[in-house]
Amino acid sequence: MTETVAFPQDRTCPYHPPTAYQPLKEERPLSRVTLYDGRDVWVVTGHAAARQLLVDPRLSTDRTNPAFPMTNERFANIRNRRTALLGVDDPEHNVQRRMLIPSFTLKRINALRPQIQETVDRLLDAMVEKGSTAELVSAFALPVPSMVICTLLGVPYEDHDFFEEQSRRLLRGPRAEDSEAARDELHTYLGNLIDSKQKSPGEGLLDDLIAEQYSEGNVDRQDLINLATILLVAGHETTANMISLGTFTLLQHPEQLAELRADSSLMPAAVEELLRFLSIADGLVRVAKEDIEIAGVTIRVDDGVVFSTSVINRDDDTYEEADSLDWHRSVRHHVAFGFGVHQCLGQNLARAEMEIALRTLFERMPDLRLAAPAEEIPFKPGDTLQGMIELPVAW
Ligand code: HEM
Repeated sequence: MTETVAFPQDRTCPYHPPTAYQPLKEERPLSRVTLYDGRDVWVVTGHAAARQLLVDPRLSTDRTNPAFPMTNERFANIRNRRTALLGVDDPEHNVQRRMLIPSFTLKRINALRPQIQETVDRLLDAMVEKGSTAELVSAFALPVPSMVICTLLGVPYEDHDFFEEQSRRLLRGPRAEDSEAARDELHTYLGNLIDSKQKSPGEGLLDDLIAEQYSEGNVDRQDLINLATILLVAGHETTANMISLGTFTLLQHPEQLAELRADSSLMPAAVEELLRFLSIADGLVRVAKEDIEIAGVTIRVDDGVVFSTSVINRDDDTYEEADSLDWHRSVRHHVAFGFGVHQCLGQNLARAEMEIALRTLFERMPDLRLAAPAEEIPFKPGDTLQGMIELPVAW
């Protein structure tokens, strides 16, 4: 019997799927992998199968289901805590999502673009003022989405050190207990913020939710805290990783970068291709509520299913020369934001932030380069969102 591949694993190069996933590519569209706790689950690696399964209501995201597979010990530790949106199935999920959709439409996000541009300009001014080198994650990649999500939600940015640290602990703290402690800290903080906003309202999505949903009894305090937590964490950690890893990747692809610098109207297509190419959320997780027949196999009730977006988004049947970075191809239907009812709520916001941040960064700093050998720059381990831990740059 051949050994199954362990999942997840660390990348060898920060922008390519782990080399250890090679057998998974060969076994597309579905095979088996072994999780950290020894459990074997299905792994989806084919593009067509992924799009079919991600819209299948027989697959559940309910993390409180004892059969729900855990991809690391940190998440296993908080499995009994309810997660808003991403942790609930329809019809409850739909009720939560409908409350938020109006705030994330393309029109609403486009209206935020001048404010995003202003934030990006201000951060780059501060970097330039300080000299000709910087650590780009802390000086730029993290503060851009962090400031923007604060404005959107009505969370005071002066608390950013606190919530950025707790999000980091939640997603990749060194000890398994960290995620639980971090989540408690975030819940207490956001609970207090909601209470004080109830007494003296401010401006932002949380204030709107308090006025329109909480006061009307459509959502209780804990549910509102859970919603605020996922929006705050997903709202900054994800895009920060895309900005840092996107910058690193472009600097490692000088020909493509030169083309982009010469014609910045290519930026929206470049962002879309970077989303596909980098697939930073690699490992979407589900459990089967019923038997499902697909691609000649049967996924049984209570079987775990993980989606390796990095392998799915490099499926050669869908994308020609899938391992190369090329924004002249059509990358429609990539699954970097997932697909189906849980497809990323913040995707319009993330696209706007990435476009403005990357375009302005490379325009303002035509000589931007890495300030350390590429192979020495640390990037994140495989069991969390992918991105750079640090990014030393010079200009
Ligand atoms: C480039 C940055 C981003 C990436 C790659 C990304 C990726 C994803 C993915 C893959 C999912 C689906 C997970 C699954 O099906 O298991 C998701 C869901 C979600 N994302 Fe994002 N995301 C990004 C930015 C954002 C931003 C800026 C927000 C802002 C609020 C956000 C909020 C959410 C929420 C709330 C969900 C859950 C939606 C639901 O269950 O209905 N994301 N994201």
